[in-house]
Amino acid sequence: MDEYNTFEGVEDLKNYVDNDALEKYRKEALTSFKKSSDFVKNLIGEQKIKIIEVGSGNSSLLYNLEKEHILLEGIGIELAKTRHIFAEKWKQDKNFKNITNINDDFRNINFQKKYWNVFVCNSTFQYFNSDIASDLVKTAYSSLAKNGFLILDIPTYESYQKKMKNNVYSFIKEMPITNPFKYGLYELSRKSSSPNEFLNISKYFDKNGELKAEKSDRIYKWDKKKIISTLTRQNFSNIRVYGSFDKIPFDNQIHEAMCITAQKI
Ligand SMILES: C[S@@+](CC[C@H](N)C(=O)[O-])C[C@H]1O[C@@H](n2cnc3c(N)ncnc32)[C@H](O)[C@@H]1O
Repeated sequence: MDEYNTFEGVEDLKNYVDNDALEKYRKEALTSFKKSSDFVKNLIGEQKIKIIEVGSGNSSLLYNLEKEHILLEGIGIELAKTRHIFAEKWKQDKNFKNITNINDDFRNINFQKKYWNVFVCNSTFQYFNSDIASDLVKTAYSSLAKNGFLILDIPTYESYQKKMKNNVYSFIKEMPITNPFKYGLYELSRKSSSPNEFLNISKYFDKNGELKAEKSDRIYKWDKKKIISTLTRQNFSNIRVYGSFDKIPFDNQIHEAMCITAQKI
């Protein structure tokens, strides 16, 4: 397996039967990213912002922020070509002017230094091995302006881990009606020798039970202590770890993800 988790094939435009199906999917995506968009808005107060998102997927978060008229400038970096194409078509159809979508690995991009107010990496950091994770934190620090914020949303996989039998946990997830796939079948496994590393195999099926897409990702486990020490080492301050975008303090036994903010002061 290569170093990257590309999410290639996810949101391939050919999977949407018509424009109506595409519009419904977009609407639902915007709704599901509303909480993270409100979180960014509350964090930054009244100012208009310049923002980078790494692993921007279909750019829903950025489009939400542009709709709120608080984006001076936004860059979404997404490695998967199909997701990038999806984001670009959406941008053209709706005339989102302040956002640039880039189809690349964030490590190939020379971000303007000390310039950006917010640097986001949501639901993506867990796919990075320690070298890439360290590059991400360094890049965030160097590109942020004074008082700028890094936001990370990192799933913990704690509950899945508890449900594992012989180091494997499989489950089926029904997709929302707007998704071109009917359901996903997931298998999370780990080697006893590396308890902090998982292999996740995802298979996506249509309504006839036909396998339409498949991918496997390596996932790295992060906990509160490890992320705080990683961010502190890179000089980030005011580190807060929440259990959700509602700013409830993180509790490992309750929350499925850590929602982290850190500031460059
Ligand atoms: C689980 S998705 C998260 C998407 C979105 N941020 C969200 O919250 O739903 C992770 C995304 O990160 C992208 N990705 C992974 N490694 C990357 C890298 N090195 N540079 C840019 N994007 C990357 C993947 O292609 C995938 O679309």
